[in-house]
Amino acid sequence: MTTFQKLSFKKRFLAFGLFVFIVHCANAQTPTLTLDFTKPGAAVSPMLYGLMTEEINHSYDGGLYAELIRNRIFRDNPTKPEGWSLVNEDSVNSKASMKLIAATQDNVPFDERRNAINGSLQTCLRLTVEKAAGRVGIANEGYWGIPVKPSTTYRASFYIKGTGTIQPPRRPGSQQPAPTTVIEDQTAGPISVTIESNDGKTVYASGTINLDKSPFWKKYELTLTTSTNVKPTTDARFVITTNRTGLYYFNLVSLFPPTYNNQPNGFRQDLMQMLVDMKPKFLRFPGGNFLEGPLLTDAFPWKQTLGPLENRPGHRGSWGYRPSDGMGLLEFLMWCENMGAEPLLGVYAGYSLNGDHVDAGPLLKPYVEDALNEIEYVIGDVTTYWGAKRAEDGHPAPFKMTYIEIGNEDWFDRSGSYNGRFTQFREAIEKKYPQLICISTIADAQYPDLKVTTGKKPAVLDEHYYRSSWDMWQNASQYDKYDRNGAKIFVGEWATREGAPTTNLNAALGDAAWMAGMERNSDLIIMSCYAPLFVNVNTATATAPKAWQWDSDLIGYNALNSYGSPSYYVQKLFSHYLGNKIVPMSVENIPTQPRPLTRRDSTQGITTPPLVPTVFYSATMNENSGTIYLKIVNTTGKKQPVQINFNGNKMLPNANLVVIRGNKPEDTNTLTEPEKIIPVATKIKGVAPVFKRTLDPYSVSIFELQTAK
Ligand code: AHR
Repeated sequence: MTTFQKLSFKKRFLAFGLFVFIVHCANAQTPTLTLDFTKPGAAVSPMLYGLMTEEINHSYDGGLYAELIRNRIFRDNPTKPEGWSLVNEDSVNSKASMKLIAATQDNVPFDERRNAINGSLQTCLRLTVEKAAGRVGIANEGYWGIPVKPSTTYRASFYIKGTGTIQPPRRPGSQQPAPTTVIEDQTAGPISVTIESNDGKTVYASGTINLDKSPFWKKYELTLTTSTNVKPTTDARFVITTNRTGLYYFNLVSLFPPTYNNQPNGFRQDLMQMLVDMKPKFLRFPGGNFLEGPLLTDAFPWKQTLGPLENRPGHRGSWGYRPSDGMGLLEFLMWCENMGAEPLLGVYAGYSLNGDHVDAGPLLKPYVEDALNEIEYVIGDVTTYWGAKRAEDGHPAPFKMTYIEIGNEDWFDRSGSYNGRFTQFREAIEKKYPQLICISTIADAQYPDLKVTTGKKPAVLDEHYYRSSWDMWQNASQYDKYDRNGAKIFVGEWATREGAPTTNLNAALGDAAWMAGMERNSDLIIMSCYAPLFVNVNTATATAPKAWQWDSDLIGYNALNSYGSPSYYVQKLFSHYLGNKIVPMSVENIPTQPRPLTRRDSTQGITTPPLVPTVFYSATMNENSGTIYLKIVNTTGKKQPVQINFNGNKMLPNANLVVIRGNKPEDTNTLTEPEKIIPVATKIKGVAPVFKRTLDPYSVSIFELQTAK
């Protein structure tokens, strides 16, 4: 036991009070930040701020990917048609039922297994109508509702066939046993398609297809348009109905609202706009855990995410639900293109989330080949096999790509196999594409015992940090001390984890402090990206589970609306207000506060609260325009006077100031209050070589200053 622990509670309390008092006195002098233009500043990495994404929290299905139908190919759950319900308006006089028919399921009678459309669309939904006294059909609940907006045209499509027997007839002339069930086949004729309220009383948009008299699958397409006076709602469903008897089979039911830039199989407009507004320089995809999958067989199956939706069976995801893979490899690349960002492709490196791995050597070779093919799809020209495939898919021009990441968080693989796996991938990739830079997922600083040591040292290491605000503030300067002769650092996942489902102001203050530290060191930190990016904020309903798996995310939404967390706005500002040169700074009198002791501290025998800075800073300059971007964070609830000195350059007296602030650390944005914490821009005057300002409590301030000629 330490001397401090031996004191009575009262004495310890007094001792802590004295400690706080001393700290307060030490803090009393005004913090001074001197921007020193007489010293050369290093270049800011041109790719410093990017985005990281994966299918988590319904980021794509029920998120950025604009498809509105949940479980469109009926494979989400092998035992029940999740997301679907029976519509039977006159249940007394009508008789109808629906059933999942899976070609691969053993308990389905043999005859019923003949309903696959192809190898991907093997499960369909059968609607049996024995008596039809009113509307009978199927309804889809969407991803926590179908979003209805005024004057909006939706594109619907589905495969359907109608028959009277459960055994579909074979082509003329072929042998077949007698049909087992016969219902009067009245299936041919009009089929009604609507977007309507969940109680069926209000129809927002409607259309009709005319079902052929044919027992064979056919795809039908139509548009549905809402009127101008419709009130936006998510209390809606997508419904396909008939009023005639027979057996109706459905597959690949799809409904798209207008998409960003009208791209086919495209993106939700509001969400893509929020991303474009961030001006990210790269997109790290497809994961995260989503790259790896639970088992060796569940890695992101990039090949089966290409081409028509008919060829995309979806796969087992990493976050408890089955991704449709509508967001496939080309969609990720189009997403990059929309943002003017480079793809940063993570290739699967033979390690799965359950801990299995494939050893380097001949067994790993097919995985390396697969990665080379995937890279060829991204950057190969049209004379290459996979480049030609990309052209066939609609994008002849190769994408510009600089970085490839080999795996994800391979420090979890305690077998030590990453050394060999990384080297085998890197050698093969560099041989075929010498211009590409391979990133190792094991960082020396974080996992010195696991780092890659065979062959050439990796040029870039990926570090991940999920921390509390206190941890961020305490470690915000960690990169000031890193070795400049070692590898460059990619902070491939990081976040201050406070607030759920999206982060709060305190988290944003943690983020801003951390970003200031990365920015000051952006000669070393060449790229960084926050994670997770997206969260569908719906909680569980009677029929659908809670939408998210991970608390503390950047952008929240339901089917209709979206909002940015305070962290989102910090990210956006940091990325907008960034120069191309770091301005060297010296600081004095940076105030501190004692960090409350944690359980981890007590296990490590730490009994004195560590002192943590309360003011964080970074300055960059655009050398061409002479614009200076000075960022200062005040993490406390007190107004904080600061003195800013400009050494070696004179500033114009007028400047712009953008501030993100709030009244308390828990303040946050939500669907109902989406703009509680947002940046506010003002003009300021009187900028002088020695310039005094008072920072708002709980604030991030960005000064945009202009060098006088
Ligand atoms: O961002 C959420 C998860 O955190 C990622 O999938 C994984 O890489 C990390 O552990």
